[in-house]
Amino acid sequence: MIAYFNGQYVSKEDVKISPDDRGFLFADGVYEVIRSYGGRLFNVDDHLSRLSHSLRELHMAPVSLAHLKTVVDQVIHRNNLENEDATLYIQITRGVAPRKHPFPDPETSPTVYVSASVLQPSPGEWETGIAIILVPDLRWGRCDIKSVGLLPNVLACQQAKERGASEAVFVRDGVITEGSHTSFCAVFDGQLVTHPANNYILAGITRRVVLDLCVTLGIPVKESPILERTLKRASELMVLGTTSEIAAVVRVDDWIVGDGKPGPIASKLKRAFGDFVQA
Ligand code: PDD
Repeated sequence: MIAYFNGQYVSKEDVKISPDDRGFLFADGVYEVIRSYGGRLFNVDDHLSRLSHSLRELHMAPVSLAHLKTVVDQVIHRNNLENEDATLYIQITRGVAPRKHPFPDPETSPTVYVSASVLQPSPGEWETGIAIILVPDLRWGRCDIKSVGLLPNVLACQQAKERGASEAVFVRDGVITEGSHTSFCAVFDGQLVTHPANNYILAGITRRVVLDLCVTLGIPVKESPILERTLKRASELMVLGTTSEIAAVVRVDDWIVGDGKPGPIASKLKRAFGDFVQA
C-alpha cells in the first residue's frame, strides 16, 4: 500500500513517525475518513471543510484543501483503487517537537499522512439489522472536532463488541448524542429525529446526506435532543456513518426495537442513499 507522508508517496511500511510527534505524545491531531465508491470520492469537499474546522478550532495551521484533494486522488490512483470501494484516511498532527504541553514553535511543520484501505462490506448486516449498547458519554465538550483523541470511543466500542453488539451509543445527561463512530437517529411518529449538530456531536457527513434525503422523500425531520427515557417509544433507530452508511438498529442492550427488523423508513433511506451514491 502506498501512503502519502509529509510530501512524499512511500510504501506504508516505510512511514516513520517520530516518537516526538505530538500526535503520538498528546493525541494532538485531527483526522478524516472519506469513502470512495469505485474510485470516486463521496462528498469530499464536505469532509475537507470539516477537516479545516477541526484544524481551526485546535489553532493548527490551515492546509491547502486543493492540494489535499490531489493527494487523496493520487493515493487512490497509486494503489489501483479506481474500481474498488475504499476508505481514505487523512491525519494531520501539530508536528514533531520536544515534549512540552504548550504549542511548539510556529515554524514546526505539521505531520500529514494519507492512506487508503479496501473496504470489506459487513455481509448481511443490512438484512438483519444491528445491535447497539448505550454507554455514558465520557467525552469532552468539543465532539465537533474530529480529534484523534478517541479513547472514550475506543473503550465504548470495545464494550459493545464484548457484549455482542456492533456499536456503542453515548448518553450524556439523559440525552442520546451519537455512536462511538456513527451518528444516531430515531423515528418517532414518522418523524426522523437526530441530535443537533453542536459541540456534543460530530457533524456527520452521512447524517447531513440522510437529512437532505428525508426532505426529498417527504420524511419530516427534527434536529433535537433524544431523551434516553423516550427511546423505547421510537418505531425505528438507525446509526449513520461513512463506513456503515445507514444501519438499522434492531436491538438496544436487551430490548428489541419495533418488530426486530429494519423498518420502512430505514429501508426507504437505504434505497435512496444507494441511488444518491450511484448518481
Ligand atoms: N467516524 N460520530 C463520530 C463520533 C464519528 O467518529 C463518525 C465517523 C461519525 C459519522 O460521521 P461521517 O458520516 O462523516 O462518517 C459520527 C469515522 C468513520 C471513524 O472514526 O472511523
